[in-house]
Amino acid sequence: MTIRWPAEAIWESVAPLLPGFTVEILPEIDSTNTELMRRARAGQPEPILLVAERQTAGRGRLGRDWHSDTDAGLGTLTFSLGLPLQPADWSGLSLAVGLAVVHSLHPALRLKWPNDVWLQDRKLAGILIETTSIGDLRYAVIGIGINLLPRAADGLRTPPAALVEVLPGADAPSTLEAIMLPLVRAVQAFEQQGFGDLRTAFHARDLLYGREVVCTDGTTGTARGVDAGGALLVHTAGGLEKISSAEVSVRPVPPAATTDT
Ligand code: BTN
Repeated sequence: MTIRWPAEAIWESVAPLLPGFTVEILPEIDSTNTELMRRARAGQPEPILLVAERQTAGRGRLGRDWHSDTDAGLGTLTFSLGLPLQPADWSGLSLAVGLAVVHSLHPALRLKWPNDVWLQDRKLAGILIETTSIGDLRYAVIGIGINLLPRAADGLRTPPAALVEVLPGADAPSTLEAIMLPLVRAVQAFEQQGFGDLRTAFHARDLLYGREVVCTDGTTGTARGVDAGGALLVHTAGGLEKISSAEVSVRPVPPAATTDT
């Protein structure tokens, strides 16, 4: 099936903000992040949106795989935005990107620190940000994968959520178009101002706030939002701890099962 991508409309809205911006749609690639990192390392620092209708080796955080559906481009939206970026402080970029995604899609979506978009208690989308140097320039690749249609659990504890659960007509082209301009604006605002001013907005969408959490570094406690640098705050038995390591992942403790008497 041929997908009609809004490449021109996206280019027209984004190019005035990002001179030299191009949009490229590929039927298949190993990973849009891998491809843009390869190009950057080969000395191509131009701003670009790369969309793949199918990824054969999609990557997630912490070395994990990112599985798309098998039905090319229909059930999952996978793309990466590559651009030169020079923020004074990089901390909180994934949270700023996540906010742009949830704000442009639906009020019911929540952010699970540091990189996930969740719907109720299931993951809907993931964000993978990588950077490299090209001479004096720093180049960022912001990869986003969004489940549009329901799909199998693929070894996950629970099947992922799907955007059509809250936006019944959602498809890959319309979802991409809804996100792109707000995403570019958010990344540029982050470059100028950093994360600090977004703290309140993050708290309004924070999936973990006030919940019991377990971190892979062993920290357990109650999530208390994030600090001005985007570090997760956890109220533990020993006091307030900050989790900022990209190597740590966090999960909410499910509420205790209730039993009928
Ligand atoms: C995660 O959940 O850990 C992050 C998932 C990021 C997936 C997207 S899909 C587009 C881009 N290309 C990749 O290989 N990964 C990101």
